[in-house]
Amino acid sequence: MKVLGIESSCDETSAAVVLHEKDGLCILSNSVASQIEIHARYGGVVPEVASRQHLLAIVPVIEQAMAEARIKWEDLDGVAVTSGPGLAGSLIVGVNAAKAIAMARNLPLTGVNHLEAHIYANWLTKGAKDLDFPLVCLIASGGHSDLVLMRGHGEYVLLGRTRDDAAGEAFDKAARILGLGYPGGPAIEKAAASGTSSLTLPRAWMKDSNDFSFSGLKTALLRLSEAGRIPKVEDAAASFQEAVVDVLVSKTVRVAKEYHARKILLAGGVAANKLLRNRLLADSPIPVSIPPIGLCTDNAAMVAACGCYRFTAGKRDGLDLDAYPSLRLA
Ligand SMILES: Nc1ncnc2c1ncn2[C@@H]1O[C@H](COP(=O)(O)OP(=O)(O)OP(=O)(O)O)[C@@H](O)[C@H]1O
Ligand SMILES: [Mg+2]
Repeated sequence: MKVLGIESSCDETSAAVVLHEKDGLCILSNSVASQIEIHARYGGVVPEVASRQHLLAIVPVIEQAMAEARIKWEDLDGVAVTSGPGLAGSLIVGVNAAKAIAMARNLPLTGVNHLEAHIYANWLTKGAKDLDFPLVCLIASGGHSDLVLMRGHGEYVLLGRTRDDAAGEAFDKAARILGLGYPGGPAIEKAAASGTSSLTLPRAWMKDSNDFSFSGLKTALLRLSEAGRIPKVEDAAASFQEAVVDVLVSKTVRVAKEYHARKILLAGGVAANKLLRNRLLADSPIPVSIPPIGLCTDNAAMVAACGCYRFTAGKRDGLDLDAYPSLRLA
């Protein structure tokens, strides 16, 4: 089965073709047009600008994905598109493109939850054959910090989530406080590489809760900055990164043990962070799956991968598929 995936939920326009065979998934193409440089001028994503950029990029990106996959329209078996959650004006562009292709080519269509797609990046990762359920997934991204129990394909139980800022959002806000620019995650990681974790910053453990909270940590950094008590930005970046990673890793490992998970899956843009990747691999008593960095941030290969499993399970949507900005995973 060959599935075209389309992603436009935030500030990346992406299209990809994924091949699903008996022994797993294979990426035939994964074309991403990023708007990061445009939004960097404003210090964050501007929704109106994002939807207009998606309109400009969507057709060239789809054409590029089809050309790189070296396939014709008639070789496709289905179209999968992110239908939520995300920015309404951005989602609509991808959803309408997917519906147009499905209608014109008489292809099956499936709407994919963006967070489910992040999880399915792990099925495009080496070792995907050993992904036996139950699995515990940490989705750490720009808009979410979710701990999810996955009992089977498409079966999710939400075990924990952030009560305020998402992990990626916290990285972005901390980078702004430290004057490191946007997007904050890669900027903090780069600065932290030449710093030491010497500042004392709080961690919100919240006793036995599986939820996260990062706003107190961000405020503590802001107070230190306002008081002129950050002698070296690199040390502040390293201390902040360490605090976020400590909480993400500890809670994920604890939950994985409690629910007897066979494996931990890491997903979402923050999963690109090397300290998080290394610490989880070092601290987890069970195997960990981590997608390659390019598949952690938004891309359509993960959407197509999820689409392959949805089509296999008979999950299809009609041409009345809409954009659902607040779509939930569980
Ligand atoms: N190396 C890194 N270290 C830490 N954070 C990172 C790194 N690379 C990217 N990020 C963060 O990941 C986030 C982007 O991830 P992603 O594209 O998955 O988010 P999103 O799609 O906007 O949100 P969501 O997936 O929740 O809808 C940003 O907040 C960015 O700062
Ligand atoms: Mg995302």
